[in-house]
This record gives sequence, C-alpha cells and structure tokens, in this order.
Amino acid sequence: ASAAVTVLLCALLTCRVRCAETRAKPSNIVLIVTDDQDVLLGGLSPMKKTKALIGDAGATFVNAYTVTPLCCPSRSSILTGQYPHNHEVRNNSLSGNCSSPQWQKGPESQAFPVLLSKLGYQTFFAGKYLNQYGMKEAGGVDYIPPGWDQWHALVGNSQYYNYSLSVNGKEEKHGDNYSADYLTDLITNRSLNFLDTRSPVHPFFLMLSPPAPHAPWTAAPQYQKDFGDVKAPRDGSFDKPGKDKHWLLRQPANPMTASSLAYLDNAYRKRWQTLVSVDDMVEQLVKKLDSINELNSTYIFFTSDNGYHTGRQFSLPIDKRQLYEFDIKVPLMVRGPGIAPKQTVEAPVLNIDLAPTILDISGFNVAAVNVDGQSFLSQMAPSLRNGTARPFFLVEYTGEGHPTGDPSCPRLGPGLSQCFPDCVCEDAYNNTYACVRTLGSGQNLQYCEFADSESFVEVYDLKSDPHQLENVVKKVDPSVLQVMNQRLIKLQSCQGQSCR
Ligand SMILES: *[C@@H]1O[C@H](CO)[C@@H](O)[C@H](O)[C@H]1NC(C)=O
Ligand SMILES: *[C@@H]1O[C@H](CO)[C@@H](O)[C@H](O)[C@H]1NC(C)=O
Ligand SMILES: *[C@@H]1O[C@H](CO)[C@@H](O)[C@H](O)[C@H]1NC(C)=O
Ligand SMILES: *[C@@H]1O[C@H](CO)[C@@H](O)[C@H](O)[C@H]1NC(C)=O
Ligand SMILES: *[C@@H]1O[C@H](CO)[C@@H](O)[C@H](O)[C@H]1NC(C)=O
Ligand SMILES: *[C@@H]1O[C@H](CO)[C@@H](O)[C@H](O)[C@H]1NC(C)=O
Ligand SMILES: *[C@@H]1O[C@H](CO)[C@@H](O)[C@H](O)[C@H]1NC(C)=O
Ligand SMILES: *[C@@H]1O[C@H](CO)[C@@H](O)[C@H](O)[C@H]1NC(C)=O
Repeated sequence: ASAAVTVLLCALLTCRVRCAETRAKPSNIVLIVTDDQDVLLGGLSPMKKTKALIGDAGATFVNAYTVTPLCCPSRSSILTGQYPHNHEVRNNSLSGNCSSPQWQKGPESQAFPVLLSKLGYQTFFAGKYLNQYGMKEAGGVDYIPPGWDQWHALVGNSQYYNYSLSVNGKEEKHGDNYSADYLTDLITNRSLNFLDTRSPVHPFFLMLSPPAPHAPWTAAPQYQKDFGDVKAPRDGSFDKPGKDKHWLLRQPANPMTASSLAYLDNAYRKRWQTLVSVDDMVEQLVKKLDSINELNSTYIFFTSDNGYHTGRQFSLPIDKRQLYEFDIKVPLMVRGPGIAPKQTVEAPVLNIDLAPTILDISGFNVAAVNVDGQSFLSQMAPSLRNGTARPFFLVEYTGEGHPTGDPSCPRLGPGLSQCFPDCVCEDAYNNTYACVRTLGSGQNLQYCEFADSESFVEVYDLKSDPHQLENVVKKVDPSVLQVMNQRLIKLQSCQGQSCR
C-alpha cells in the first residue's frame, strides 16, 4: 500500500511541477483610450490602419457604450468597472471627485491596474489620466496612483504641446517642438521603449491615452493639410430642431448660423487630422509587438472615453454630454488570442465591462472583484468562455454648470456651461439625467428621466427611429413606461451583481 501511495504522490508531485512549468504565462494586454472620439459621425474614418490591424484582426463591437458621456467620470468607470453612482466621480472638477483625495483613498486603490500588478503584470501608463490629475489639490505630480510600475501621465486635461508630465513622480515640462514634445508621438515612443526594456518573464499591461481628438485639435505638422474638403456629415439629425426634447435642446437657433457651421466643419476636419497620429501609434505598436514575438499573446483594446457630436445633434454645435447615440456610443475593437478575425459583435457592452474583461483575461477570479460590469470575453472569444449578453443597462449623467452667468452671453443666466459658439449651451446643472436602455431580442428602447424642474422624460424607439428624432413618451403603452421606470430606479442604486 505504501508503495502505491508513493507512486501516486510522485505522480501528483510531477504533475504539479510539470503543470506549473507548462502553465502558459498570462496574455499581455494593451488598452488604448482616445479622448472624445465618436464612432457614429465618422470618428474612425481617418484610422484605416487601426481598423485593419485591430478590427479586421479581431472583433468590432457595434454597440459599445459609455455609462456616462464625460471624460473624468467615464475614465473613472473604465478604471473601476463601476457606474458613477458607485465610484462617485460626478464631473471633471475636484469637487465632483475627479482625482480627488476621496477617489484616491477609495475606488482608485482597488482599480483594476492594482489587481493586475498584484498578479505580477508589469504595468505602464502614458497620456491623459483624469482631468484633475497632477493638480496641487490632487497630490501634485508626486502622486502616482497605485498599481503602476511606469508612469508618464499628463497633468490636467488634454494638450498636444506646452504641458507637464509626471514621469514616475517627477515633473517633466514640454514646449512646442514637434519632434520632442508632440504628446501623441511621445506616448508612442515611450511605450515602444517600455516594450524594448520589459522583462520577458512577466506579462505586461499598457494603458495608452492620447489627447486626440480632443480640443485644441493640434495635428502633427505633416497632417495639417489632410482631409481638406471633409465636412461634418449632414445626415441624421444634423441641424434638425430639438422638438419634444428636454429644456436645453429647445434653446439653439435653428437653422444654425453660417459661422457655427464653419466652426464645426473646421473642428471636424482637425479632429480627424489629430487621429492620424493615433493611427500611426497603433501601427508602430503592432509592429513592435510582432518584432518582439509577443503579438500573438497580446490582447489590444481600442476605445474612447465618450462619443462626440459636431452639429449633427439638433443644432448643437460641438460637444458630448447628451443622452443621444453620438455622445454615448464609443468605438471598441479588440484583437487577441482566441478572438477570430473580422467579427462584428452586436451584443451591447459598456465601458464598465473593460475592467472585468481585462481581469478575466489575466486569469483573475472576476467573481471576487467589486465591479458593476461583466466580462465580455465570451462575446468575442466563445471558445474561451461561455456567457450571456446583458438585457438592459444604465447611462447616468450629472450636468455641469457655472454658478455665475457667462459675461460674453449676457442673455443667459447662471447654471449653464459650454455656451460656445453663438452662446448655444451644451450643458447645465439640470442637464442631469438617467436612462435605461433595452437592447437585444428585437428591442431597442431608450427611456430617460431628467432631474430638472419639469421631470422631463424622453423615450426613443431606436429600431424605427435610429436618429432619435421623435420622443415617443406620449405614444408608448403606459405599462412599457412603468416597466422602464422600475428598471431605472433599480439600476440607479445597483451594485455589483444587481447591476448585471
Ligand atoms: C465624493 O466621494 C466621497 C466618498 O467617496 C463621497 O462621500 C462624496 O459624496 C462624493 N462627492 C460627490 C460630489 O459625489
Ligand atoms: C507654447 O507656449 C509658448 C510660450 O508661452 C507660446 O509662444 C507658444 O505659442 C505655445 N505653443 C502652442 C502650440 O500653443
Ligand atoms: C518619437 O520617435 C521618433 C523616431 O525615433 C522621433 O523622430 C520623434 O522625434 C519622437 N517624437 C517624440 C515626441 O518623442
Ligand atoms: C527640437 O527637438 C529636437 C529633438 O529633441 C532637437 O534636435 C531640436 O534641436 C529641437 N529644436 C528646437 C528648435 O529646439
Ligand atoms: C506566437 O508566435 C511565436 C512565433 O511565431 C511562437 O513561437 C509561439 O508559440 C506563438 N504563441 C502562441 C500563444 O501562439
Ligand atoms: C460552455 O458550456 C458548455 C455546456 O455547458 C460546455 O460544454 C463548454 O465546455 C463550455 N465552454 C467553455 C469555453 O467554457
Ligand atoms: C462638480 O460637482 C460638484 C459637487 O456636486 C459641484 O459643486 C460642482 O459645481 C460641479 N462642477 C461643475 C463644473 O459643474
Ligand atoms: C434649467 O436651469 C436653467 C438655468 O438655471 C433654468 O433657466 C431653466 O429654467 C431650468 N430648466 C428646467 C426645465 O429645469
């Protein structure tokens, strides 16, 4: 008997050793997050290389959404996998928890890069982090969020030149010499350098966050003449009056002025020009990963923090922050092991799903993490995971305003913001809303409630009205409204499992 036990024990031991030896190193992960890149108004058109190298090589998600269309809250959702009502970052200000001490002590200390780092990933960040990052009240450039081995983060909001970086906690100032300072290229260069100097023993995670195509839309010199005759598309809801819509959308002049049109066409073109450098970034990264033999064991995610509109939206010139598709829908393409090429995925996925998906890929037990989202690995790599799509989801937004009126728009009172050009305001404190969306099984319904003095409700049937021209709140069966209202109430206070 003892001989048999010895044999068994040996077999177990050898297996354990052998299994440990042959257990594959977890896959590497690259996450690219652009700033304000739409997908519905042609935002991916200037990125042919990215579409070929990531989209055609893997999965393109046609129903990817941010749970909140504003940079800092959205980026906080990406990092934590949580809805804003759980991470409590409400806007781009410190007082709204953007990179605030409370955020740093709370949600940021458990964000997914911390967990990846604990698993042994080498972690690298470059680019724009959170809008208030690096400010004195947010800990200055000395402060490096936990979980990052290499840290090259922009102080404040997106810039292309004349900015400061925190390079591993030390301030590095940049001017406006293209070959030394252009931020998108600098992010590319530093990431390539990281890949050259990484340890081959451990997997790596890179998060690259270029400023493009955010204002001030400064293209690299060699791209400043590109797309000379491109204009914002005139289809869909372009310059249509905002009928039966919430208060803010009943204000803009319709039709728009010629100067507003010229302004937004110029913005549209310049946004595309800045994205060409991001397209170069993707190409160079893929080439580098290939040359160091890591391309086939690396997942590459490409997405944006929120969508954007340039005039298409009911005579609003340029911005994000609205509940409509062009502002909440984002690009999302993923390539990597187990993802068949040239897939189009219809299932709805959210930016709060990125953290659980990335952790799932890394081998982390996703059931044990405090996220509201869910892994979408099953949607893009069914050979690796089983899983179902979610039936409905929440989009929630807290409007930004200014406590005082804008002196250049004397006719407007306080409480508004983004009143440019032509004193058309794109945001207000009472542009605060929550929407529930049912998408799948033949349904595509959006139900939104505003926290304004009218308790305004907007309802769209996107199957018959993809451009959200007609608010059908007075036409749909009241029982449908009731179901949506109940779902909304539940989702607005959901946490973890109850959000899924
Ligand atoms: C900021 O976060 C803290 C704790 O995380 C929370 O108590 C506070 O209400 C948040 N502030 C806002 C404006 O939501
Ligand atoms: C950068 O700052 C310098 C000095 O203030 C200024 O002259 C230059 O125009 C700025 N460059 C850009 C691209 O804003
Ligand atoms: C990036 O690297 C390229 C190639 O070495 C170089 O020409 C360029 O000046 C660098 N740009 C920045 C901003 O570092
Ligand atoms: C711009 O940066 C490059 C590369 O760092 C350098 O060789 C060149 O001298 C700089 N040009 C100016 C005008 O400072
Ligand atoms: C990736 O490609 C390299 C070189 O072609 C090969 O040695 C390796 O086994 C491949 N790895 C995977 C996970 O397919
Ligand atoms: C998916 O579920 C089926 C049925 O339970 C099972 O046979 C299969 O192995 C699962 N696939 C994966 C990738 O987990
Ligand atoms: C951000 O949120 C805080 C807390 O609610 C608020 O005091 C502040 O005015 C908001 N900032 C803007 C620009 O709306
Ligand atoms: C929204 O706020 C603005 C500015 O305070 C105010 O003028 C307007 O009447 C409000 N509208 C609603 C519907 O609450």
